[in-house]
Amino acid sequence: MHELATTARRLVRPGHGILAADESIGTMSKRLEAAGVPASEQVRRDYRELLLTTPRLSTWVSGMILCDETLRQSLADGTPFVVAAREREIELGIKVDTGTVPLPFSGGGVVTQGLDGLGGRLAEYREMGATFAKWRAVLEVSRATKRIVKANAHALARYAALCQEAGLVPIVEPEVLMTGRHEIEVCQAVTHKVLGEVFDQLDLLGVDPAGIVLKPNMVVAGDACPVPSPPEEVARRTLKVLRAQLPSAVPGVAFLSGGQSNAQACANLAAVNRLAGEDQAAPWALTFSFGRALVDDALRTWRGNPNAVTGAQNRLAENCARAAAAAARRAVV
Ligand code: 13P
Repeated sequence: MHELATTARRLVRPGHGILAADESIGTMSKRLEAAGVPASEQVRRDYRELLLTTPRLSTWVSGMILCDETLRQSLADGTPFVVAAREREIELGIKVDTGTVPLPFSGGGVVTQGLDGLGGRLAEYREMGATFAKWRAVLEVSRATKRIVKANAHALARYAALCQEAGLVPIVEPEVLMTGRHEIEVCQAVTHKVLGEVFDQLDLLGVDPAGIVLKPNMVVAGDACPVPSPPEEVARRTLKVLRAQLPSAVPGVAFLSGGQSNAQACANLAAVNRLAGEDQAAPWALTFSFGRALVDDALRTWRGNPNAVTGAQNRLAENCARAAAAAARRAVV
């Protein structure tokens, strides 16, 4: 357990966050196609190589989350991704859920699956060199019934317990989606309910909070809500929920970006840290585990063109640097 707590603290150490590049084969292929790049195993590999080999990535990034396909691949020069990450002092994480399915009697609400055989898969990933894992529960505001919330929280806790047993730090990701017209108060209420249930279930199943990283959504209004959410309000409501629901033993919170732009996500994260550093004491590190807010610009710059790799890496580096600055207490961005 000591090793888990050390790894968790290293992942959220000051000025560092996590790069989420673990899109499933299906999602990654769709994002490549949308950027005009015909998807293939080779192209998905090329793109992840571009991300990992960005010069000075570990200045801002403590860990990178990959999917099973990438974890088994190698760079063009034959170096396995696992080795290349270690050489760069970047911890490797592995996404281990297998996506969502509708939960019966839940009006289209979904639950995340992937628990069958998970213990064996985790042992193999640890053997390969992964030090942490990720499981994402997806909650729509309009469908976050007690049934959906409990089913997802229970699965997250079973996953987290299996990870700790296998010696991997679980990233616990309950995502309340931004999709919808709802106002920020609604996101706050749903996030409060979801995190409360998640920590009840983690406790029930014996998960040590010192050996996890929480990856929640920020409290923001829906993406179709006409009333925007100023960063100060996002920070106040987000910290209120965290203070109500998080044990102080959790070493860190690494927020997902959830469809926000890099500028928006970083402004919100900076406001959260400013407020935490001012009068609202928060014992946890507050950092990022962004996917799209870090990589979208790089993908759009690259578009599969080998001559655009350096330009794309520069975009990723800029976005990571901005996020790392926002992750500092009393950050000014
Ligand atoms: P976004 O930051 O793009 O929401 O992705 C984070 C993630 O890992 C989703 O599971």
